[in-house]
Amino acid sequence: MSATPCSPLAGKHIVLGICGGIAAYKSVFLLRLLIKAGAEVQVVITPAGKQFITPVTLSALSQKPVVSEFFTANTGEWHSHVDLGLWADCMVIAPATASTIGKMAHGVADNMLVTTYLSAKSHVFVAPAMDLDMMAHPSTQANLDLLRSYGNTIIEPETGYLASGLTGKGRMEEPENIVKVLEQHFARTRSLEGKKVLITAGPTYEKIDPVRFIGNYSSGKMGYALAEECAARGAEVTLVSGPVAITTEAPGVKVVKVESAREMLAECEKVFAGSDISIMCAAVADYAPAAVAESKIKREHSDVPVIELVKNPDIAATLGTAKRQGQILAGFALETDNEADNAAEKLDRKNLDLIVMNSLRDKGAGFGTDTNKVTIIDRTGAYPYPLKSKREVASDIIDNIETRL
Ligand code: CTP
Repeated sequence: MSATPCSPLAGKHIVLGICGGIAAYKSVFLLRLLIKAGAEVQVVITPAGKQFITPVTLSALSQKPVVSEFFTANTGEWHSHVDLGLWADCMVIAPATASTIGKMAHGVADNMLVTTYLSAKSHVFVAPAMDLDMMAHPSTQANLDLLRSYGNTIIEPETGYLASGLTGKGRMEEPENIVKVLEQHFARTRSLEGKKVLITAGPTYEKIDPVRFIGNYSSGKMGYALAEECAARGAEVTLVSGPVAITTEAPGVKVVKVESAREMLAECEKVFAGSDISIMCAAVADYAPAAVAESKIKREHSDVPVIELVKNPDIAATLGTAKRQGQILAGFALETDNEADNAAEKLDRKNLDLIVMNSLRDKGAGFGTDTNKVTIIDRTGAYPYPLKSKREVASDIIDNIETRL
């Protein structure tokens, strides 16, 4: 089989997980296309999968023994799901049955495929295939939402004729299209090579006294997802983060921890001039106490205290004033009403190139959630996106920014 010239899949290590469903026959075509694109593929099949498709076909095409059990029965050889998880540049589970999706969502590691999934450090693609009622069931949908929240990409099934004889949504996406999704993923991988990115994330805390502060509910998840997405595309990222409960281990992300808006501005100013892309994702407190009490404000000694506030610097607007030709500056606008008008006004006032608007009125958007629903606004118009995991939203935002580079 001659390889597809210059496919982004060439040389990639792909774990292909196959579950027990009629669509397993399509996995043979998928495997063939992946090999043709130059990928090295390790098939991991569930015990039920083997009822639908024989490992002999799969090992002949992949030129590797197919892995299914934790041990090879006659030799006692142990198959390490940890090694496989680390080896993979990506994992694609196609077809993914309702049962395996449920196990993946809840960590039920009773077979080699799910243990490999739980050990995988790379991106995971899930291509469901099942009958329309199983697909539509709230349990399946909730499990798919959980997988999205873990950062996995769901390759939505098509609507069409199903093995049950019914017609509806549940047909596994065609192998050619699954390959396209994987190719897009790897094409993006080094798309920000050599670029420097500055991201602010989380809330700021403005001290009142040694034990109290003014803050907000921002979890930092959106900013951290953006930082990880940029690093995954090869960028050198400085993430200036307010106090949050999350961390990132992503190589390529340098986290600079700050507390107040003034500290955040000072850290941004150190790197902004050298940054190609700056994304202001932090929920910066607009005001800070004019003075910080040196010791705890006591209840008995005083009348109800009045805290005088002063305006914090506007970090985005300050950087917007210093912006050079060729630098891209993006902001966020979390609004509750007059969303589009408010966001467009901020775009101009802060000299941004684009602003990512989300509304607290949208279910699944805003603080603390693992999902977000955004509209990207620039001077050409407003571009709405559907509800997605924050990592997928991050990918959409970075795709949009890359078109401006
Ligand atoms: N921002 C900033 N510094 C501030 C306030 C906001 O850098 N002091 C940034 C945010 O990170 C975001 C954008 O500006 O990218 C919009 O933030 P938002 O709080 O919505 O705007 P404000 O200008 O504070 O307006 P308002 O609170 O009145 O809606």
